[in-house]
Amino acid sequence: MKPTTSPKTYRVKSFGCQMNVYDGERMAELLATRGIAPAPEGEDADLVVLNTCHIREKAAEKVYSDIGRLVKAGDEAGKSPLIAVAGCVAQAEGEEIMARAPAVSMVVGPQAYHRLPGMIDDAVAGKRGVDTAMPADAKFAALPSRRKSPPAAFLTIQEGCDKFCTYCVVPYTRGAEISRPYIALVEEAKRLVEAGAKEITLLGQNVSAWTGEDDKGRKLGMAGLIRELAKDPDLKRIRYTTSHPADMDDELIATHGEVDKLMPYLHLPVQSGNDRVLKAMNRSHTAESYLRLLERFRAARPDLALSGDFIVGFPGETEAEFEDTLKIVDEVRYAQAYSFKYSPRPGTPAATMDGQVSKEVMDERLQRLQASLNRDQAAFNAASVGKTCDVLVERKGKHPGQWLGKSPWLQSVWFEGDVGIGDLVQVELVEAGPNSLAGRLLVPATV
Ligand code: SAH
Ligand code: SF4
Ligand code: F3S
Repeated sequence: MKPTTSPKTYRVKSFGCQMNVYDGERMAELLATRGIAPAPEGEDADLVVLNTCHIREKAAEKVYSDIGRLVKAGDEAGKSPLIAVAGCVAQAEGEEIMARAPAVSMVVGPQAYHRLPGMIDDAVAGKRGVDTAMPADAKFAALPSRRKSPPAAFLTIQEGCDKFCTYCVVPYTRGAEISRPYIALVEEAKRLVEAGAKEITLLGQNVSAWTGEDDKGRKLGMAGLIRELAKDPDLKRIRYTTSHPADMDDELIATHGEVDKLMPYLHLPVQSGNDRVLKAMNRSHTAESYLRLLERFRAARPDLALSGDFIVGFPGETEAEFEDTLKIVDEVRYAQAYSFKYSPRPGTPAATMDGQVSKEVMDERLQRLQASLNRDQAAFNAASVGKTCDVLVERKGKHPGQWLGKSPWLQSVWFEGDVGIGDLVQVELVEAGPNSLAGRLLVPATV
């Protein structure tokens, strides 16, 4: 690689889960401390960070097509950007990316991106580099403190995963479970609220596995952290995602009933409704234990909206086993859900299991599952019509005077009125679409 001039502008493109979105924001803040500014909309950046996802094959392949596109655009413009590949593909395929994509000058894993500034200096001097060191502890301490926030902010409290579901790359790309220290989280939440956050979503690959100690040395779970954050009068809403059914304890369930700021929404992936498949996936719950758990949550917070993740076509899944997934969907009636075709991931146990399911069968099962999930989402939205609720205004809508925000149940709500981004306003839900609701503004901004 030839030496080049220091980048003046950057663009960070995040794929995958919300934890990548959070990491992308932190990388942007880090670049800003180096005097590198966001590239203006529509203009090429001097430095492009592709913050990648490795969860399914399609997601992982995106990185190579994106690099191809950047190189082509660079050739046409006569000036190629510096390209950094970050995120989970970087972790999983670091050296491979370097070999396959000579245009990439930096590969940095999700637990090492605090070292990006040094890598940029090297790249400017013409030296390519890979840094995929783990674990995450050092990263958070090395990042600049928060100074900007959207009204609905993300806060990573826990990283990594020890569950080793047999289909999943996350334990390999993100490493072992670690919890960020309580004090650091209370501090970061405070900064986010000072910077304008009204809502904070606590993030982790297994967020409810978070543990810590408060300033008096008392042991805490995520419920204790939520109760502490809820004391800040300027923080109006708290959410968390994603949880594994094995980490949901009584205190967290009680917190849903007792802390008003904890929003009535729970994303709790089940993956399959069949116990043989769940066992082969190394999920530590059964369909029945999952349903009993949801019952307890619903008893604590009757208006709880439920969301889940599903995989169809796990190796060996029969038609009858797939139908158990449809059954559990019928029973739970999710307000929202994500469903995927099984994607064999290199290095995971399921990738070499017998009975890989054909693409045609997976397509057909996914269609049937999504028909059920869409039916339930539409029914949940329709049942919300006539309700009055708070909406946190997150951005402008498509038309002048129109605004978009989220209901407590994480539905997108659009409405018209004299409000601003970050306002928490009372809205009557008047019409339901499949993916959003129309609202009527009742009370102007209170915050
Ligand atoms: N930690 C979270 C989710 C991580 S990944 C949890 O366990 O709930 C998000 C979702 O992607 C998973 O819940 C699963 O439904 C899906 N997923 C993960 N690996 C996959 C694979 N190999 N093929 C298809 N879907 C997958
Ligand atoms: Fe992946 Fe399972 Fe860990 Fe979730 S709990 S990140 S699905 S291994
Ligand atoms: Fe993807 Fe990594 Fe998140 S694989 S889903 S970006 S943890």
